[in-house]
Amino acid sequence: MKLHNFRHGGVSVCGLLVILFPALFAPFGYASPSVLSDSSVLKLRHSRLLKSALQHQSLNEQQSDLWTPLANQGWKPCINSTSTSSSIPESSGYIQVFLDGGLNQQRMGICDAVAVAKILNATLVIPYLEVNPVWKDTSLFEDIFDVDHFMNVLKDDISIVRELPDEYKWSTREYYASAIRFTRVKNAPLHASANWYLENVSPVLESYGIAAISPFSHRLAFNNMSMDIQRLRCKVNFQALTFVPHVRTLGDTLVNRLRYPGYLQQVVDTKEGKEAGKFVALHLRFDKDMAAHSACDFGGGKAEKVALARYRKAIWQGRVLNSRFTNEELRNQGRCPLTPEEIGLLLVALGFNNSTRLYLASHKVYGGEGRISALRKLFPQIEDKKSLATSAERAQIKGKASLSAAVDYYVSMHSDIFVSASPGNMHNAMVGHRAYLNLKTIRPNMALLGQVFMNKSMNWVDFQEAVVEGQKNRLGEIKVRKEKQSIYTYPVPDCVCQQG
Ligand SMILES: *[C@@H]1O[C@H](CO)[C@@H](O)[C@H](O)[C@H]1NC(C)=O
Ligand SMILES: *[C@@H]1O[C@H](CO)[C@@H](O)[C@H](O)[C@H]1NC(C)=O
Ligand SMILES: *[C@@H]1O[C@H](CO)[C@@H](O)[C@H](O)[C@H]1NC(C)=O
Ligand SMILES: *[C@@H]1O[C@H](CO)[C@@H](O)[C@H](O)[C@H]1NC(C)=O
Ligand SMILES: *[C@@H]1O[C@H](CO)[C@@H](O)[C@H](O)[C@H]1NC(C)=O
Ligand SMILES: *[C@@H]1O[C@H](CO)[C@@H](O)[C@H](O)[C@H]1NC(C)=O
Repeated sequence: MKLHNFRHGGVSVCGLLVILFPALFAPFGYASPSVLSDSSVLKLRHSRLLKSALQHQSLNEQQSDLWTPLANQGWKPCINSTSTSSSIPESSGYIQVFLDGGLNQQRMGICDAVAVAKILNATLVIPYLEVNPVWKDTSLFEDIFDVDHFMNVLKDDISIVRELPDEYKWSTREYYASAIRFTRVKNAPLHASANWYLENVSPVLESYGIAAISPFSHRLAFNNMSMDIQRLRCKVNFQALTFVPHVRTLGDTLVNRLRYPGYLQQVVDTKEGKEAGKFVALHLRFDKDMAAHSACDFGGGKAEKVALARYRKAIWQGRVLNSRFTNEELRNQGRCPLTPEEIGLLLVALGFNNSTRLYLASHKVYGGEGRISALRKLFPQIEDKKSLATSAERAQIKGKASLSAAVDYYVSMHSDIFVSASPGNMHNAMVGHRAYLNLKTIRPNMALLGQVFMNKSMNWVDFQEAVVEGQKNRLGEIKVRKEKQSIYTYPVPDCVCQQG
């Protein structure tokens, strides 16, 4: 029984689909055997560059500032400064939301839900996390996030309850799935204004004492919001939402083992006196959904083309905007996710070498080891949850896509440098959260890389020069949010202020 689905239909939401889709259709647990699982099928697309990259690694010593943390850019978080001591107004009723998508999309939904509750003076019920049809993680909010911390941090901002009181217990997901209900708000437009909520949801609260908003993803605008609301959204995202202790513990274990290689099997205190090593977290979102949705050619030959086209048809019924363009057009526009091989070349061009430790914050790579191998050649020290922790240590997250994603989020936040191979919710979440803390984040210049990789005669020196030039100011420099951009991706200037 599905409370609602994401078939918005129509071309107008294509742009949005690109944002939504990575979280919606990522194939965690996708078990169907892939035509491409045989690595021999895959050809390297950039074998010349790869060869040069392997030879040129040692020439990279000039890039010694690579690991240097970002300098203070003159900005600092400023989400506390609004908190006036005025008490929370009397509650106008209960707000319930049902959140679709994967971890990072739900995260934004939670922040928006708090904001909407604030706008309406309502009491928020701890959000309900829908089970994603592909990811199938049944974890509840409290299985992923620390609820006590969440309620405590927000106690002066809004009132929150874990559960509805008995008189409203009827208001469940099942109740809304079975018939039209007056307490359900199902017509919230994408990026609705504060006024929309005041005009359309306040009356429901007034009449019934409760409103269940669904669908809710991306239903609160980023522009024309009061400063208080914007800062509250950031406060939720950057302060109130922390993961449950076992996720943080596993995350710390992984971070420790990345920083102190060679001490993997030993207890933590043996590392005393050793200098902490550095590592890059790489989010390699290169799974079948991403590959199919992008409609790009990834060099897997005819078998791959056919397989991806079939998948596109089955999942999106051909409504994939990108499939109208040729592979060249898509690459020119930077609309193709980088393959593991391409991200490896990018990293070498930027100055990383075979002693760099990479943490792979990803689930599954389409094409499997055949596709990863080029990256592994360049960076032999690739690690992931499985290589760093025993299955006993990973028992609590086993088979849980959202909890696995939470661990990846945690480790990525603790990395010296974060880079992702394609746009998407995880990329955006990291760009925003790391900008908030002034942490180094490589934002690949997709259009430039797309063009550069199309030149099959490009030599290494020209390649490296183009990459270094194209990545200038894309290593974590502050970017001020444009009017309609997400505050969760660009928290400056709403939640990060210029230092006096
Ligand atoms: C790799 O790069 C580091 C600096 O990031 C440098 O110290 C080291 O010598 C390089 N290793 C090789 C094999 O070039
Ligand atoms: C790393 O690169 C250096 C210089 O290119 C090479 O001498 C060394 O054997 C490489 N190490 C590994 C583990 O591949
Ligand atoms: C905001 O307040 C919290 C709790 O009082 C505190 O832990 C945090 O450091 C403060 N942040 C800033 C940027 O002042
Ligand atoms: C919320 O409470 C404030 C302060 O009491 C009040 O000014 C405002 O009108 C209320 N808004 C709604 C939608 O009830
Ligand atoms: C901005 O918000 C105010 C108050 O909520 C509203 O009156 C105004 O119409 C909005 N402007 C735009 C351009 O949406
Ligand atoms: C392709 O690469 C070669 C060698 O690096 C270079 O001379 C040529 O100008 C490039 N072509 C284009 C169209 O950029």
